[in-house]
Amino acid sequence: MASVTSLSDSVQQRLASALSATLPEAADADPLLRRSDRADFQANGILALAKRAKANPRELATQVVAGVESGDVIKDIEVSGPGFLNITVSDRAITANLAARYADDTGRLGVPQAANPGTTVIDYAQPNVAKEMHVGHLRSAVIGDSVVQLLEFAGENVVRRHHIGDWGTQFGMLIQYLDEHPHELDHKDAQVTGEEAMSNLDRLYKAARRLFDSDEEFKTRARRRVVDLQAGEPKTLAMWQKFVDESKIYFFSVFEKLDMEVRDPDIVGESGYNDMLAETCRLLEESGVAVRSEGALCVFFDDVKGPDGNPVPLIVQKSDGGYGYAATDLSAIRDRVFNLKANTLLYVVDARQALHFRMVFETARRAGWLNEDVKAQQLAFGTVLGKDGKPFKTREGETVRLVDLLDEAIERASAVVREKAQDLSEQEIAERGGQVGIGAVKYADLSTSAIRDYKFDLDQMVSLNGDTSVYLQYAYARIQSILRKAGEVRPVAHAELELAEAERALGLHVDAFAETVREAAAEYAPHKLAAYLYQLASHYTSFYDKCPVLKAETPHLVENRLFLCDVTARTLHQGMSLLGIRTPEKL
Ligand code: ARG
Repeated sequence: MASVTSLSDSVQQRLASALSATLPEAADADPLLRRSDRADFQANGILALAKRAKANPRELATQVVAGVESGDVIKDIEVSGPGFLNITVSDRAITANLAARYADDTGRLGVPQAANPGTTVIDYAQPNVAKEMHVGHLRSAVIGDSVVQLLEFAGENVVRRHHIGDWGTQFGMLIQYLDEHPHELDHKDAQVTGEEAMSNLDRLYKAARRLFDSDEEFKTRARRRVVDLQAGEPKTLAMWQKFVDESKIYFFSVFEKLDMEVRDPDIVGESGYNDMLAETCRLLEESGVAVRSEGALCVFFDDVKGPDGNPVPLIVQKSDGGYGYAATDLSAIRDRVFNLKANTLLYVVDARQALHFRMVFETARRAGWLNEDVKAQQLAFGTVLGKDGKPFKTREGETVRLVDLLDEAIERASAVVREKAQDLSEQEIAERGGQVGIGAVKYADLSTSAIRDYKFDLDQMVSLNGDTSVYLQYAYARIQSILRKAGEVRPVAHAELELAEAERALGLHVDAFAETVREAAAEYAPHKLAAYLYQLASHYTSFYDKCPVLKAETPHLVENRLFLCDVTARTLHQGMSLLGIRTPEKL
């Protein structure tokens, strides 16, 4: 494996060893390296160390400087202020490090993989059967997919779980209706599109609802169906399966439009835990974690109270014997911990479900299913807002269908691509329109921290200037065009060359990809990667403005600048792919 030590890690190591030589009690102390405007890096951990050792910080800093191994990586190190260290790395080290990354033929740019990976089960992209996907389902899918990519890239074992809503009393009504109108889900053609599948389901849902609300006898029959379903009566189950299958056709079509891989075996919906529900309740009741209260099986919490001051319990089993959302989630925890052997459980779910997860996790902790070694975390996300700052709705006040939104984004993006297109065919414009449009939607979602709300503003999302994916995609395409124009001349690193300021800034930033990915994966924070990529494109733009590439003074300089271009492009490509965004070669 071709893993490369990043420049910041090299500097860090050199500082740490000088520090422990000077002050043995600081053997594992962190010199606290930061990127800085004053120099390439600044270490500001000496102050606190000196304080603890009752030493003079500037003196300690001076001693560390004297003890630092300099030459290969560190070109310059000096004490500044009350005891900071300003560090400049050599041009040679920058180019050599990037060359080592460039040489990594696995495409990982020398980014190391975790030595002792754990197993993370991630619950994301969980729409509901027989229901249209809306804008809220977008966030879970987009954020979840990026976190999956980040974790897998970092070397973690990742198990994906799409906890779709495929169970509940509403199926009694649907199944009963289908039984009475058996041809409602028949298809004219063998190949049914996602759009057709959804409109079938929607029509059926509305008709069933209408009957349920107006016809008392149908209502009774529908309720009896729920009992049959729960008892696993074969004919009822077979009809339920039809709804699930029809819905999956639709889900897969939306995920495909989103350019996202969702695999059938990873779809384990609420129904997947049916066999565990009774046992889950028994375990909770026997251990005293849950108690019977007015017939229902409940878990109480000191700090969860309703507006009237009375405690609001988590209901694991209703008084009529039915199981709800909590029982399923608790059973899923047992499955993920004991069968899938997870160390980490992640839930990419709307922040509005935070109380539910807080109670579910606490219950699982009391039961001993979660503990120090197995942790659970909700990666809560905020609401998608319209331009008016209110939750996103259609002009008629209805929730927005996800497909309509995606189609509009693709349409807008195609217009932008067409306007700029120079040598693209119609087919290429259509294909790029999709990549740019979907990229724009994903990037807008991923570039703010998940917990914050954001405004869905297509004009802003497909803008060529500013913090958008289109800007990044253009930077990438521009580099590819330079590489094509270079013809026979290929990128070659020349570590002996002196670097201009803009080249250094770009090079240092490219090298920071590894630590950015490490941090973004550890914190489940794709927005940190997005911010990094935006800065990368900006550094590239300044480099490109100040440093001619193909017209550089010497052949070696041309080769080295082409190399800087190419290593930047590869980093953009890799980084964007971790966000689930394509980088077309031409735009
Ligand atoms: N299907 C739910 C919804 O649409 C999200 C499921 C979240 N995951 C879970 N394990 N509860 O809101």
